[in-house]
Amino acid sequence: LWLLIATGALAYLLGSVPFGIVMARLFGLGDLRRIGSGNIGATNVLRTGNRLAAFLTLVLDAGKGAIAVLAARALLGAGDAAQVAGFFAFLGHCAPVWLRFRGGKGVATFLGTALALAWPVGLAACATWLAGAALTRISSAAALLAAALAPVWALLLGRPDAVVLFALLGALVWWRHRPNIARILRGEEPRIGAG
Ligand code: G3P
Repeated sequence: LWLLIATGALAYLLGSVPFGIVMARLFGLGDLRRIGSGNIGATNVLRTGNRLAAFLTLVLDAGKGAIAVLAARALLGAGDAAQVAGFFAFLGHCAPVWLRFRGGKGVATFLGTALALAWPVGLAACATWLAGAALTRISSAAALLAAALAPVWALLLGRPDAVVLFALLGALVWWRHRPNIARILRGEEPRIGAG
């Protein structure tokens, strides 16, 4: 049990590194929390117009989820530890102690975690996001679709052991997108590339 607690704590710390804020600073784009939606994720970095910074935020925020899972699996085997690591990396991103628990919406970290935990499910979730984005041109709508379908993909792609985790992460992604859902329903959610 202590090993699992330590795994969760380390994964949380890794997940809590807000790469969007770091990239925005590094690229001289200002304080991300005062731009666009105020969110710390890649979508909001893209609103500054800097595609490289947005891409790096996406890769690093996804990477921290993946690294947490892969490290836990390498050190502790393919049991519960990998799922615990993925969950707490995601939680670290969404509620980092450094930002008084006001973190991101977890989409990139969710996708990175999924790719490392069960790559077919991760790939299906990424494809779902891309399809949703192509259809709606709305990043949050694509994320909501990908999050909702992830447990379904886990079931269909032979990972019943991961269904509960994906359902939990998916529900948390929806919870974090409450303001986006309200904007989508009002028809006010900005499209990708439209600021
Ligand atoms: O990745 C988060 C995305 O789904 C929504 O971000 O900035 O439009 O609230 P944002």
